[in-house]
Amino acid sequence: MIHIDRLERYWLIAVGIVFGAFSAALVASVLVFGVRLPSPVGRIDPQKLDQTEFATPGLTKTGDGNYTLRVIAQMWRYDFGVKGNLPNIQIPVGSKLTIAATSKDVTHGFYLEQHDVNVMMLPGQISQVEVMLDRPGTYHIICHEYCGPGHQGMIASIEVTK
Ligand code: CUA
Repeated sequence: MIHIDRLERYWLIAVGIVFGAFSAALVASVLVFGVRLPSPVGRIDPQKLDQTEFATPGLTKTGDGNYTLRVIAQMWRYDFGVKGNLPNIQIPVGSKLTIAATSKDVTHGFYLEQHDVNVMMLPGQISQVEVMLDRPGTYHIICHEYCGPGHQGMIASIEVTK
């Protein structure tokens, strides 16, 4: 029988409790709260996006209350088929939005404020994430991966309309 000092034993118990709590939180986030990581759904040649479904980026209605947004990131703007430096799209409240994202050049990010959307946009990869738009308002899309001198201006927005 090895001797374990009393204080050492307390620390071991404390570590066990913390580890158990983190493990429980991880399992609960998946099983109870349905947290899903954005997943890569395919490979794509960033030089030939014009020969793929990203040839016409933008919003398409795919069903009742279902929309898909194809978005290309490039230095230093989001391309979803809307002109201007701060492109904005409108989607009715209550819609389920599927975002399919890729990059033309370097690594960018797609963060939709106040929603559970935080995706890396990598050249050569299609990343996909789904989100319920259940609160009206205007929400910014922000690039959260440093992508060069114009990074801080890489902003767009989604307007969730009543
Ligand atoms: Cu694109 Cu930072």
